[in-house]
Amino acid sequence: MNGGSPEHLPINLDEYEAAARAVLTDMAFDYYAGGAEDEITLSENTQAWRRERLVRRVLVDVSCIDLSTTVLGTPISLPVMAAPCSFNKLAHPDGEIGVARAVARSGSLHIVSTVATTSLEEIAEAAPNGPRWFQLYCYKDRGITEALVERAQTAGYRALCLTVDVPVQGHRERDIRSQFHLPPGIRVANLDHPLDETADDSALNRYIKELWDTTITWDVITWLRSLSDLPIVVKGIVSPEDALLALEYGASAVVVSNHGGRQLDGCISTCRALSPIVDAVEGRLEVFVDGGIRRGTDVVKALAMGARAVLIGRPYLYGLAVGGSAGVRHVFELLEEEIERAMGLLGCTCIDAIDRSFLAGGKRGS
Ligand SMILES: Cc1cc2nc3c(=O)[nH]c(=O)nc-3n(C[C@H](O)[C@H](O)[C@H](O)COP(=O)(O)O)c2cc1C
Repeated sequence: MNGGSPEHLPINLDEYEAAARAVLTDMAFDYYAGGAEDEITLSENTQAWRRERLVRRVLVDVSCIDLSTTVLGTPISLPVMAAPCSFNKLAHPDGEIGVARAVARSGSLHIVSTVATTSLEEIAEAAPNGPRWFQLYCYKDRGITEALVERAQTAGYRALCLTVDVPVQGHRERDIRSQFHLPPGIRVANLDHPLDETADDSALNRYIKELWDTTITWDVITWLRSLSDLPIVVKGIVSPEDALLALEYGASAVVVSNHGGRQLDGCISTCRALSPIVDAVEGRLEVFVDGGIRRGTDVVKALAMGARAVLIGRPYLYGLAVGGSAGVRHVFELLEEEIERAMGLLGCTCIDAIDRSFLAGGKRGS
């Protein structure tokens, strides 16, 4: 695997970002790394996790540490899943198949994007044993969404992850500067429609305006539930009120997310949004979180606040860019080692035991 540096493989997720910058075109790197407008939320996401402080315990037997948990009943080996990310083939020819195989080998779960550059069936066939969910954007033509749901169910996807934070496209100025476009041969593989090779930034924006349904409201969950028995995960929640509405409409889980700072700039960081949502739902929904998670200690902090598991986006895209499928696998390995070490140092041997008592300012026994 080419680590982007002749001396060594990256030893942490930030080093993967630096190595990816060295191997990707500026246009592809900026598409992955960028956020909306002034990128306030993008940088706040990472900074907010770093500001939290942990309170460790001592003289606990940590000879055996178990990172396994479940998400919506599915066992995973570590509390980290792969977030849905568009256009994986921009990073590496292995694309989504490389990600699917690496995630399966890591014992984790892959959330596949609607706008993947490999069809959802090919992804499922490439790693038949890895659990996966399908991320949905809702099209004005309900028939398109309906067909995607049916295909995902047939291909063995175990949940639908409805992304709700793209009512309009965030303004990503890096993509304007770089004149972002899809290189020849890379296309949205799940759908037969005009967004194809060489589609540029304004084509992407036009696509979203023309095809995605900006009129959808909470009823869309009722509609989705009428189409399939798959559990529904609502991704893109930052307000406790919205989390309660997701519960009321029958969702099984929410992802506290601001789309990695790519949508509303100035949106609250996910670290700050998480605890009030956990408190509001009182265990009636599983709560996941993503955005800016780069260290095992960030994962532990999220779990201590009450998240059941976290998602990572950019880190695995950078792993893919640097080393194809093996790079993605290495990113998961690094995080796994970091989480295990963090738990050992914290004095905590299983995921369920990570609670707010490990956070500075957290309440004991809560
Ligand atoms: C390049 C890129 C593409 C993305 N594409 C999608 C997508 O197709 N669907 C979606 O729900 N979220 C998408 N997201 C958001 C991610 O699922 C996730 O919320 C975010 O990346 C988490 O933040 P992190 O990158 O800091 O880990 C994308 C993010 C990035 C960076």
